[in-house]
Amino acid sequence: MSQELFDKANEKLSEIEKYAVNNAEELEKFRIAFLGSKNTIKPLFGQIRHVDADRKKEYGQLVNKLKQTAEAKFTQLQGQLAQSAAADIEVPDLTRPVNADRIGSRHPLSIIEGKIIDIFSRIGFSLSEGPQIEDDWHNFTALNFPPNHPARDMQDTFFLDKELALRTHTSSVQIRHMENNEPPIRVISPGRVFRNETISARAHCQFHQVEGLYVDEGVSFADLKQTLYYFAREMFEKDTEIQFRPSYFPFTEISAEMDISCLVCKKEGCPVCKHTGWVEILGCGMVDPNVLENCNIDSEKYTGFAFGMGIERITMLKYRINDLRLYFENDVRFLEQFSHIIP
Ligand code: PHE
Repeated sequence: MSQELFDKANEKLSEIEKYAVNNAEELEKFRIAFLGSKNTIKPLFGQIRHVDADRKKEYGQLVNKLKQTAEAKFTQLQGQLAQSAAADIEVPDLTRPVNADRIGSRHPLSIIEGKIIDIFSRIGFSLSEGPQIEDDWHNFTALNFPPNHPARDMQDTFFLDKELALRTHTSSVQIRHMENNEPPIRVISPGRVFRNETISARAHCQFHQVEGLYVDEGVSFADLKQTLYYFAREMFEKDTEIQFRPSYFPFTEISAEMDISCLVCKKEGCPVCKHTGWVEILGCGMVDPNVLENCNIDSEKYTGFAFGMGIERITMLKYRINDLRLYFENDVRFLEQFSHIIP
């Protein structure tokens, strides 16, 4: 009887020693067979009572060895599997060129604002910025708005209290700049402005303007025209034409609106120019002497011109955008279309 048990144990030992696995499932089978709670070594321990007394010790050592061998084998097989899994991972080709990182795009309004600043900086205009929350003096009174001018109305202006409002135009920056600087003055002032408008494709309660101001001795309307002509050709196309129409602003005298020849139809007539051949892009004029005096600038000695344009409008013309709301919705499908433009 004893020898039979020894043979059985030795058989199991060589089975364990020869065991090989190819994958995790087979390893699990090994674990269940030799190390699990119902493993096949366990019953051999119980059989010790059938072993002859003089060989009991030897048998005990053999089944203990069986158990240890199974444990060691398991660790070994586990290691082998891990190694072959690592070897299966493909070594990347390190000589391949890298994929470029996806970079974001500049907002179209920022691109155009940058272009406008660049164009005017080339002829000596520097930047001057002011606050978006303005007082009545800088937004209206110093700009010669009569007390009952409709622009002061609640319907057009977001008032914060009696004195303060969100600025309705960047002309307020003219005043701040003239109060703090002596002529010659040559500045542009880009920034966000606010008006109490119902939001639609053609109107928004917030938009951006660039104000321009030039004050010195002997500044004339001819200077204004030539400066804006230069701007139109730099901003749009070299053959862009301009025309001025008389207009009215409280802070300029004389006042005008400037049109450019329609970029889309070249004056043939199309929906963009409403079949007139011309598209309005800005308001301008000679700074009213009252405004100069309000800022303690001698209007006998100095004259100046000013202009103001909407950045959204210029951007619409430049990139053929037909809905103002797109600028503020941050839809990546819209924004991504400008990623190729490197300002
Ligand atoms: N501030 C005017 C507007 O918002 C534009 C303008 C600026 C007109 C400077 C003349 C001179 O419409």
